[in-house]
Amino acid sequence: MQADNLVISTSLNKNSRSRLLAKYAITKFTSPVNYLDLQDFDLPLCDGESCYNHNDVLKIKPIIEEAKFIIISLPVYNFAPGSSAKNLIELTGNVFKEKAIAFMCAAGGKSSYMSVMSLANSLMLDFRCIIVPRFVYASREIFTNNEISEEIKERINMLIEAGERIKSVL
Ligand SMILES: Cc1cc2nc3c(=O)[nH]c(=O)nc-3n(C[C@H](O)[C@H](O)[C@H](O)COP(=O)(O)O)c2cc1C
Repeated sequence: MQADNLVISTSLNKNSRSRLLAKYAITKFTSPVNYLDLQDFDLPLCDGESCYNHNDVLKIKPIIEEAKFIIISLPVYNFAPGSSAKNLIELTGNVFKEKAIAFMCAAGGKSSYMSVMSLANSLMLDFRCIIVPRFVYASREIFTNNEISEEIKERINMLIEAGERIKSVL
């Protein structure tokens, strides 16, 4: 589908909570949105060399390229974005140029809320992305039987609103 919004779920866990955030987010856009789930692809680890010709890398690049507003939903591992999210950016690089980027993350506890900063910084400085100054951080207790709390749903709605506003001036 042709869409200038994109939600990327980067967790490879079958029972991922950040995927629940991503799935909720795609229902809240007021304009067409694409969805990429990294569990549906067999992306190689970035080797800075032959990985760029891998079929799945070639498949996802144009979907990222056509988007102007991208939400990256990720798991927090070791006080940082899980490596699948970083690997995606290493693999696709330039197609992230000049997008509005928002982050949502699922974490075990409450203390890792600065985790996205390394990715945010590199997207800003390397690819001139505008980082949406809203952010969704969902620790374990906000989920009940795979249901997201109302407070986090509201934060996702606000994140989308902010991202769409920024997209409109890109
Ligand atoms: C290897 C690993 C490292 C983790 N490190 C952290 C961490 O530093 N901070 C935290 O709050 N949670 C941490 N967690 C918990 C995950 O963030 C939590 O399980 C989250 O739901 C993962 O996202 P997902 O469900 O979308 O895969 C870690 C989990 C794993 C498996």
